[in-house]
Amino acid sequence: MELMTLKNKRILLTGASGGIGKAIAALLDQQGAILSLVGRQADSLNSILESLSPTAHQIVVADINSAADREMLTGHCAKSAIDMLINCAGVLELQYFDQQDPQTIDNIINTNLLSPMQLCRQLIPVLKAREHAVIVNIGSIFGSIGHPGFTTYCASKFGLRGFTEALQRELAGSSIQVSYLAPRATITALNSATITAMNRALGNTMDDPELVAQALLMLLRKNQCQRYMGWPERLFVKVNALLPNVVAKALIKNLPTINQSINQQNKSEG
Ligand SMILES: NC(=O)c1ccc[n+]([C@@H]2O[C@H](COP(=O)([O-])OP(=O)(O)OC[C@H]3O[C@@H](n4cnc5c(N)ncnc54)[C@H](OP(=O)(O)O)[C@@H]3O)[C@@H](O)[C@H]2O)c1
Repeated sequence: MELMTLKNKRILLTGASGGIGKAIAALLDQQGAILSLVGRQADSLNSILESLSPTAHQIVVADINSAADREMLTGHCAKSAIDMLINCAGVLELQYFDQQDPQTIDNIINTNLLSPMQLCRQLIPVLKAREHAVIVNIGSIFGSIGHPGFTTYCASKFGLRGFTEALQRELAGSSIQVSYLAPRATITALNSATITAMNRALGNTMDDPELVAQALLMLLRKNQCQRYMGWPERLFVKVNALLPNVVAKALIKNLPTINQSINQQNKSEG
């Protein structure tokens, strides 16, 4: 199999100001890629830009949930002749589903699923013009395992995984490769102090974001359709697909700890 080179590849990276996005930007910069860094805050994007080598990287301030901003991003991508879209922006909340604010539900589904889908739709014509183009959607282990306390997040990532798989098959034979990367828990601002403490109490390992960037690089270099991170998480994904009751039993045993974390969080938030 031919290994993909990233030198001079033009890449649109959403979520570039986040923990994982920043690590991905640094690694792709080292590989000689030319990045368009997308986020909502110019200051944080500029500080990332300054940390990269002084090449043709740019920042693009955009809210991916805004149709006007997506239109602007599409124009930017056509003008810059981008080769790759990495949908990395994401949001999460630990909460009982019946206590989750309806606007938070909308925001999670929009940011993690609908807006990445819309971006793919708008950028496919741009990407089809390239000899070899790539879309990578950053999912999660929670895109394969329904986890209490993260119902809406799981729904968004299950959706993103299904969308990615279907699009991958739909575009087979075209110049666009579509891939899915599923990290496990990672040390970034996405996880509140409560979630981090809960992960510790449950014995869930949290990766450094640099490890996710390395996994993305491997996926790209090997032209992989999908990559799941972490052990035993990768095994749980397979067991959950074949024997969901086994995983359900293990997760239900964790309910007291999960409930305690949510209750503590809700109490401290008043
Ligand atoms: N950390 C984990 O444990 C973990 C595990 C598995 C998968 N993931 C996935 O990895 C991806 C990156 O997560 P992370 O841990 O790096 O999170 P993070 O540090 O909280 O960063 C989130 C990023 O998403 C951007 N974003 C959120 N809403 C946006 C919007 N409406 N428009 C544009 N950008 C928006 C944020 O930019 P602003 O500057 O605009 O806020 C930020 O750059 C997500 O898809 C997440 O689901 C994370």
